[in-house]
Amino acid sequence: MEKNSETLIQEKSRRNFIKVGATLSAAILGANAIVNSAQGQNPDEKSGTLDRNTSKSRTLGSGKNALEVSALGLGCMGMTYHRSFIPDPKAMISLLRKAPDLGVTFFDTAEAYGPITNEKLVGEALEPIRKELIIATKFGFKEGRPSLGLDSKPERIRQVVENSLKSLRTDYIDLLYQHRVDPNVPMEDVAGTVKDLIREGKVKYFGLSEAGEGNIRKAHAIQPVTALQSEYSLVTRQPENDVIKVCEELKIGFVPYSPISRGLISGYINERTKYNPDNDNRGSLPRYQPDAIIANWPLIDILKEFGDQRGLTVAQVALAWLLAQKPFIVPIPGTTKLAHLQENIWSADFEFTEAELKKLTADLNNVKIVGDRYTGQSAEQTRK
Ligand SMILES: NC(=O)c1ccc[n+]([C@@H]2O[C@H](COP(=O)([O-])OP(=O)(O)OC[C@H]3O[C@@H](n4cnc5c(N)ncnc54)[C@H](OP(=O)(O)O)[C@@H]3O)[C@@H](O)[C@H]2O)c1
Repeated sequence: MEKNSETLIQEKSRRNFIKVGATLSAAILGANAIVNSAQGQNPDEKSGTLDRNTSKSRTLGSGKNALEVSALGLGCMGMTYHRSFIPDPKAMISLLRKAPDLGVTFFDTAEAYGPITNEKLVGEALEPIRKELIIATKFGFKEGRPSLGLDSKPERIRQVVENSLKSLRTDYIDLLYQHRVDPNVPMEDVAGTVKDLIREGKVKYFGLSEAGEGNIRKAHAIQPVTALQSEYSLVTRQPENDVIKVCEELKIGFVPYSPISRGLISGYINERTKYNPDNDNRGSLPRYQPDAIIANWPLIDILKEFGDQRGLTVAQVALAWLLAQKPFIVPIPGTTKLAHLQENIWSADFEFTEAELKKLTADLNNVKIVGDRYTGQSAEQTRK
């Protein structure tokens, strides 16, 4: 009998997945090596090393709520939302289907991206290989539109989950995040609703996004939290002072979003960059304005100098630095380019020596970052 294209995709993807799975033990060893070197097991080495062709994995959460994912995930938002251009969906479907071949098994989307268009794209692309992947999505806004405000009422959470299951063409969501804490709905009710959804098999793991310490603790007491997703990058270091410590204590994974600061920490964005006012939040964010970009450029210079000596790009050094901070950190850079995806994934293969990580961090600490990360309602809704 002739095989249809879907069967062929399935077979090919299964083969690739087995290939990825076969390197899993090496992956775990590799992830440990990053940590070991960051913790000083190699103090005499002058320079870190690149060890390509391994797929590395990390674990978010612990015990029954532990979720194994690739060391870096793929942020899918920009494929339909907020990054100025919207590429041809066919190209994005092709990119999403190739991602597992590069070792990416962790995909991030949300009802709010579009709304709905992003989940639909991800669902269509990953349907043939869905069972082998980890898909994360989020609820939390009225009608899925951040501009309309927050809504995490239990009935709304359930409604979003039903919609997401349809859009994602699946019967379970691996990781369901509350996108923003809703001050009008007690966290206990939110966590209780997700707990019920987990019991019903519609959701596997619970996550929060941009929650503060108090709400993380409240949620975790009702339904253990597997991951906290918050903005964290070399220009947004605040999580080091609070929520990353809480995650470490409670054994919750930490997923930095905008890990290269919406493209800024690659050197691709400069003071002449134009943003599409209809589909890009960067045009209204202080850090993406010409004066702030120029003021913060010494950070790019430091990363470039470090990378130039070691065969790494600016984005790779920025991502490798994040990965070296804690073994439970899993950044989710977004991209619409296969070449950037490969570049970003390879950052997991760089192992810093303790000395070079210390020196690089000290140099980066000397740069005083100019410009707030959010303003207005967006700022109001974070770190609650
Ligand atoms: N929880 C939340 O509230 C929240 C908020 C924002 C984002 N997120 C999630 O986090 C993901 C990533 O965040 P983000 O897209 O805001 O920021 P990001 O990952 O820091 O940066 C993405 C931007 O960087 C560019 N880029 C990626 N890799 C590159 C490379 N190697 N060299 C040069 N440019 C590169 C991409 O353009 P190209 O397409 O041209 O590569 C894109 O414009 C999103 O997709 C979304 O899933 C969550």
